[in-house]
Amino acid sequence: MLNELISKNTPLQLLSHPLFHVHGIEVWVKREELNHPQIQGNKLYKLYENLRAFHAGGYRSLLTFGGAYSNHLAAVAAAAHAEKIPLIGVVRGDELAHQPHRWSPTLQRAVAQGMHPLFVSRADYRALRMRTQTQIEHLQSNYAEQWPNQMDSSGIYWLPEGGSNLLAVQGVRYLAQALAEQCPDWSHLYCAVGTGATLAGLSAFSPAKAGRKICAVPVVKAHADLASQITAWIAQTGASEPCSWSWHSTPSKRYGQLCEQQRTFVTEIWAQFAIELDPIYTPPTFYQFWQDLLAQRIAPGSRVILLHSGGLQSTRTHKPEGAQQ
Ligand SMILES: Cc1ncc(COP(=O)(O)O)c(C=O)c1O
Repeated sequence: MLNELISKNTPLQLLSHPLFHVHGIEVWVKREELNHPQIQGNKLYKLYENLRAFHAGGYRSLLTFGGAYSNHLAAVAAAAHAEKIPLIGVVRGDELAHQPHRWSPTLQRAVAQGMHPLFVSRADYRALRMRTQTQIEHLQSNYAEQWPNQMDSSGIYWLPEGGSNLLAVQGVRYLAQALAEQCPDWSHLYCAVGTGATLAGLSAFSPAKAGRKICAVPVVKAHADLASQITAWIAQTGASEPCSWSWHSTPSKRYGQLCEQQRTFVTEIWAQFAIELDPIYTPPTFYQFWQDLLAQRIAPGSRVILLHSGGLQSTRTHKPEGAQQ
């Protein structure tokens, strides 16, 4: 199923605005939010190679992680449902185990699609989320009462939080290729950063060119570990000439909280271009572009792409502001 989705290009939409004319630039939005209602945006690419590895490796079930509002859990649940793969979703917050009335719409839908939720304490979640296969037994023994009884701990494919690993980075090559086909001479690509896997893939698989760069907009304060992880992923792909990237930061209060100007901006983008932004990732990204433009940091002649990386699978039921993903 993912094969079919990934082979279709989403539109690269040219935006028209008097400011772009004044500054002498062209601006496009890569509409990846349109690629699938739930396996949306960058999630399609991050999952693609992982699911191929799952099938090729003869695994029997998937295990992954997320908060109650996670875009990643929503995407994996939809993909696992479509491909009939048994899925355990390790969800942060063991208080939710016996309170289904408090489950977010994302979680409710994932469970309705067959995901078996395993609610763990925040401390265990922190300890477990980026680790390896061996820790499945820890989960199985510590959360035995929640562990699905038809599932043993062998043959489980461990997909890290956010689906971010080297295979995810490699899957982003298909997005980079689509951009290269649709606008071969783009100069700026604005991209939201959570774990950095999407950015790493875009950098690794977009040909480096003079004057070309990826403008990375972190949704939490960018820290040194994040930059080293991105650099390591790029190196692991073996890319000989990755496209250069740099942080373009918008001050944000904390994860998932937009400032007043960003909120207004989201409404304006909808009013001007009929493009809906998600509650977390694309507003700071698009807003940062606008700030860079106003501050004349984008040279005339530039061809700018704003990546709409999805996150709209539950827009009618936004999570409370500031709630963790
Ligand atoms: C909608 C959306 N955009 C962008 C990102 C950032 O992607 P990454 O974690 O690969 O940096 C995420 C997080 O996974 C996301 O859900």
